[in-house]
Amino acid sequence: MPESFRFSRPEWLDETASTSDILKLRVASGNPPPSGTVVAARRQTAGRGRMGAPWLSAREGDVMFSFLWTGGMSLDEAATLPLACGLGVRDFLAAAPLRIPAACKWPNDIYVGDGKMCGILTEGGVSADGLLRLVIGIGINVRARPGRDEEIGRTTVSLEELGPGRYAPEDLLPNVLHFLEGRIDAWQRGGFRTIRTDFTANLWGLGRSLTARLEGGRVTGTVTGIGDRGELAIRLADGTIRLIASVSAIEGA
Ligand code: BTN
Repeated sequence: MPESFRFSRPEWLDETASTSDILKLRVASGNPPPSGTVVAARRQTAGRGRMGAPWLSAREGDVMFSFLWTGGMSLDEAATLPLACGLGVRDFLAAAPLRIPAACKWPNDIYVGDGKMCGILTEGGVSADGLLRLVIGIGINVRARPGRDEEIGRTTVSLEELGPGRYAPEDLLPNVLHFLEGRIDAWQRGGFRTIRTDFTANLWGLGRSLTARLEGGRVTGTVTGIGDRGELAIRLADGTIRLIASVSAIEGA
């Protein structure tokens, strides 16, 4: 029976370059912390996003944290863990008290309408002891931040833009971790099949025509769901279904 997954009490830093870098350094030190270790920051000075992009946050007030996941599986087998994390963040936003209708934009962004509210960065690999160690960094836009869209060339949305409330990251994080823990624990025990139906039901762009930018070009088609291994399923113009396993970007067609 696989072990259950539990987060440790988060360690809060006032300021750091990147919470993911902190955990990666600890893993590289030769004395890695246990699976479920969480490091959160009030301010990041060099936050990183996917594909080498910077992660631009408010000066403070956004939720920014990373955690370590350790397991005895291959990188390939763990490829759907970020999808479980995205679904956990969606659960957090959809639940009381926020009740925000968020959707999972494959592979691992969280959107509200057509604005990105959360991004997930997964890094790591197999350590010398043969265990897979992944550092998963999560950033949730909380503070309204004028100019963010122009800076990154994409529409974003923050919790504060959706309602009159002010939210402190220290108050939000325990709730985020609660919902994440539920999805990761289920995934760790039973694999991707434990989250596939819910992920598909909450898939951003389902039924819409999208273009996936791949390394070798672009593919346009209608999103029909998610494959057994977490791939994005797209129906092409000739009616065939194409499963996309990795992508550099998904755009509205
Ligand atoms: C993306 O959408 O490109 C992923 C963004 C991930 C941002 C988070 S914030 C906490 C952690 N530390 C980082 O430097 N990046 C991740």
